[in-house]
Amino acid sequence: MHSIPEDRAAPAVSEFALLRSRLRNHDCGRVLDLGCGDGRFLRLLASACRRYSRITAVDPDKDALDEGRRAALPRGVRFVQAAGELLPFSDSVFETVALADALHHVRDPLRVLRELRRVVAPGGLVIVSEVLRVAESNAEATAVRLHHFKARVDARTGIRHRRTVSPAELQQLVSAVFADDEVRVYRGSPPAAPAAEQGRYAHARRLRRYLRALRHDPRYPILRAVAETLAGRVALTGYTPAPRGVIFVRKRPQRFYSR
Ligand SMILES: C[S@@+](CC[C@H](N)C(=O)[O-])C[C@H]1O[C@@H](n2cnc3c(N)ncnc32)[C@H](O)[C@@H]1O
Repeated sequence: MHSIPEDRAAPAVSEFALLRSRLRNHDCGRVLDLGCGDGRFLRLLASACRRYSRITAVDPDKDALDEGRRAALPRGVRFVQAAGELLPFSDSVFETVALADALHHVRDPLRVLRELRRVVAPGGLVIVSEVLRVAESNAEATAVRLHHFKARVDARTGIRHRRTVSPAELQQLVSAVFADDEVRVYRGSPPAAPAAEQGRYAHARRLRRYLRALRHDPRYPILRAVAETLAGRVALTGYTPAPRGVIFVRKRPQRFYSR
């Protein structure tokens, strides 16, 4: 199995460019996008595949599915409300399955990856794209803290949202589930942080807005103080969004034995 490339000097490759180069000559067949949310990744996937027959978008959250329905998604997407730990599909019914930016939201990442492997057909493709916890510079460390602050706020409002995974943790999860398969791992470039978002005041405003849902929570004053400190840190260091691990797994094709 390849490991997540550590060469920071290598040219950054976007998530879409990685999908495109892997899928442009590929018939993706029946596609599953798990943890589809508002369909950001699903749109990339649909435009990167040379061809596909049907897309099923799954999310346990009804609001996320409604957002997906309202978004400009390819026609004919079927929406299903379900959690990735127990998918309501038979074995091997998809040719391509994907999970993007959802591993740090699910209750049981290993079980979700096993379910993805179960529902993909032998020879089919599993794609996992996940934002990584990398803090090699001050600006990256600031981005990690911003993310973890949001995860803390989300968790108090009832949304399951945890720390992001490190490259080693992602590697471990993938090795545990796809040991028998052909695995390729890439480091995808982070999205660029818009310059307008880097200023202390812009950030403080955004963080306060994020906190508004908790204004009656007893921890609000503490979280508010943390938000102000974080906004100060953004002004000092700027922030560089984290890179992502983009993983393509080809499930081992079925072996036929002849006597
Ligand atoms: C950050 S969003 C990612 C959305 C989309 N895949 C993207 O890349 O933009 C994470 C999504 O994971 C979903 N999620 C949370 N728990 C889940 C679970 N147990 N199984 C599947 N998806 C889950 C959330 O509802 C949310 O829509």
